[in-house]
Parts: sequence; structure tokens; C-alpha cells
Amino acid sequence: MTRIPFGPTYDEMLHPERLDPSLRSQALFALRQNELDPLNLFNITWKNSDNQVRKVVLPPALTGVDANIVVMLGYGFPSGSHKVGPAYSTLMEGLVDGEIIPGVHTILGPSTGNFGIGTAYISNLLGFKAIVIMPDNMSKERYERIQKYGGELELTPGSESDVILTLERTHEMMKNPAYKALAQFELFPNYRFHRHVTGNSAIEAVQGVGNGRVAAFVSAPGSAGTLAAGDQIKAVFPEAKIGALEPYECSTLANGGRGQHRIEGIGDKMCTLIHNVLTTDFIILIRDEETIQGLKVFRDGVEVLTRMGVDRDFALSIRDWFGPSGICNILGAIKIAKFLRLGPGDNVVTVATDGFDRYHSVIEDLDRRYLETAPFVLERWAKDIFLGADDQLVFDVRRADKKERLFQQKEKDWLKFGYSIDFLNAMREAGFWEEQYAKVKVYNEKIAASRQKD
Ligand SMILES: Cc1ncc(COP(=O)(O)O)c(C=O)c1O
Repeated sequence: MTRIPFGPTYDEMLHPERLDPSLRSQALFALRQNELDPLNLFNITWKNSDNQVRKVVLPPALTGVDANIVVMLGYGFPSGSHKVGPAYSTLMEGLVDGEIIPGVHTILGPSTGNFGIGTAYISNLLGFKAIVIMPDNMSKERYERIQKYGGELELTPGSESDVILTLERTHEMMKNPAYKALAQFELFPNYRFHRHVTGNSAIEAVQGVGNGRVAAFVSAPGSAGTLAAGDQIKAVFPEAKIGALEPYECSTLANGGRGQHRIEGIGDKMCTLIHNVLTTDFIILIRDEETIQGLKVFRDGVEVLTRMGVDRDFALSIRDWFGPSGICNILGAIKIAKFLRLGPGDNVVTVATDGFDRYHSVIEDLDRRYLETAPFVLERWAKDIFLGADDQLVFDVRRADKKERLFQQKEKDWLKFGYSIDFLNAMREAGFWEEQYAKVKVYNEKIAASRQKD
């Protein structure tokens, strides 16, 4: 008999504290001892061993705004980023639906890196072979990590903004029945994971912070999975605004712009199929170089930040918790706080998808490009980039005509992959997204039932 692999339900990823205590403690032990122990599937959660959401509340001395900027930290997920959550959810839904079969199928992971790392990792834990399809000039740490987890690489030309080529390659490979793709840009487990697990974790993360509510949620979409957390936040705090962040250099959602940029993981020249544009209120553009300079400040500017009034231990602690897209999300959070005139007590929530471990080469490259990165340079960057962030380049997309542009972008991007216009039109109704979300309950039950058979 085929052995059905085990792993957590959506509810258990949100509430690991409700797992059987011995399973929870064995899983936490595995996290410290052996990252390739399948028990680590039960560590796919935003929560630490004390069952608190891993987060940091940035001080006004760094952000220059009175509102609390609450950043949920993804580096603590197994494999080093929260993208392992959608990878696991997509594979697990396929397994319990009987569409992905152990011993028969090879898993494909179209990605710019972290989803690929997550795909290779989860496939390893569940006994599948994985092929990660990604652009050929991302940071070298990403390829190394995928290979470390036993994933094979299928590289397509270009960088971050050429992810569309990886999608085309994926669809081509999917014609082979031996392959099953965890198609993060178009499959709804990604939406379900982030709406249920990330969204409700965000709501928990602001308990005891400021007024305990969420005034705004911002995230820079790659697949736009993380943005789905905003749908759940809005369901609980209807006043909350959602901001999607894009590289200034590749402003596809804001105004159809296209171009190369350096913020790995985001801004993929498309409106992804799973992006619920109905709930996106603002699109905010962030300059890519500021995210790399900001990362350098976090990494090597402890003394500078301390002089600016940031607690030294705090400045030391954040050195390892961010990559460029995390800095991008912080800049977007500061901008939306300014744009919405948020004050003390208001909370803006965002995420840091991964940590610094996969960006050493990015900072080495910055050091080569700038002749001088002495403390006075880092101080100027910190003041300009964080304290000096303005509320320009914020596009209000709440009006029907602005939404229409986003729907049309989606049609342009997805009709060519065989999705029907009726399906795309269905996404114009809020009910479509509620139906997708309602399936969390169904999969909770299916996953729990398959575990009993295990
Ligand atoms: C570093 C990084 N930041 C941000 C994102 C975007 O997250 P999402 O795909 O959920 O929109 C990704 C996605 O791969 C990523 O790897």
C-alpha cells in the first residue's frame, strides 16, 4: 500500500501549540538537530517554541514614524523562509487529493529562489524528486541551498523580472505526465496558506501592540501569496488598507512598467493569477538600490543605528533577519504610515520573507560597486532611506477604472496559459475568493484523516 506522508493541517500551522505536546517537542528537537528530519514539517509556522509569532516592532528612531511597524520574521521557518509554507500546502493538497503520487511523480517548482528552496526541501522530506525552474542569475546562495536539499536546477535566462520565462518552461514541462508542478503563481494553496496562516498570525502579532488592530498591511508580491494575509486582516479589521509594493524599476501593477531590478523574490512583470486585486488598495513603488543600501545599513551599521537612537542590542539582533525584500517591505510600511497619516497606537504589519543568510553575495557586490561605505556614508543612507522616506509614488487603485487595469493585466498574463475568460471574470467577485478560502476547512479534515491512515 502506498504510504501517505504526514504533516500538519492549515490549523496546526497556525496553532502549533494545539499539536500533541510530545509531537510538538519532538518537532522542535528535530529543528535544532537535523533539518532533514520529516518531523520538521510540524515546524512550518510563524510561531517560535514559546508559541509567539516571530516578529519585531521597529522603533521610531529607525522608521521616523509614530505608528508601530510590526514585521513578522520568516527566517525561522524550516529552509529559512516562509515560502516553504505554500510549497508544503500545495504538495500536501495534491497528495490528499490523490493527484500527486509518491513513487510516480517528480515535483516541479517554478521560482525565483525561495519557493524553489522550499520545494526542494519539502520534496526531500516527503520522498519526492524535485526540479526547480528558475532564472539563471539570482544570488548564488539560492542555487547552493536547492542543491543541498537534493533539488535539480532547470535554469532560464535572465533575472528576477524574467520569471515569465520560468513559467513558460514550467507549462512546457507539465505536458509530461510524470511531472507535477507546485505552480505558486496560479494555484490556490498559496492563497489559502497565507490567508489562513499568515493572516491570522498577523492578527495575533498585534495583540498587545498599540491599539491591537491593523491599520495597514503591506507586502511586495512575487507570487502575491503573502498579500492574501491582507484578505484575512480585512475580514477582521475592515478599516485596514492593503498596499502591494513594486520595484520602481519594474512597475507592472502600478502602470504597466517593465524592467530589471535587484529585489530578489518580487516584481515579476505580471499580475499573478492568485492575486486578489479586489482587496488591494494601494500600489507603492520602492527603488531597488535603497533596499540594498538599507540592507547594508542593517548589516554593518550597528554603530550608526545606535548613534541615531536605536537600542544597540536591537540593532545587533536585526543583522540576520532581513534580505532586500524585507527592507523593501519596511520602506513600504513607512511610506503607507506617512501617506495614511497614521499615529501612535496604529499598527502597520508586514513580513520579512527570509533572512540575511542568502544575501552575502549581494552585499559583497554592493561593497565592490561603492568605493566607500564608511560609517558616515551608512549614516547618510540610513537617514535618507528610512527617516527620509516620503509618501510619493503611492498609487490609489481603489477606483473601478484602476481595478480594471489590473484585471486586464491579469487577462494578458493568463489567457495565454489556457485559463478561460469566464474563470478570470469569476475572480472579479469577492465570493470567488471566499470559496477558495472555505476550502481550508476541507483540507484540514482531509490532511488529518490521511495522517490517521499513516
Ligand atoms: C525573498 C522574497 N521576498 C518576497 C517574496 C514574495 O512573496 P510572495 O510570493 O508570497 O508574494 C518572495 C517570493 O518568492 C521571496 O523569495
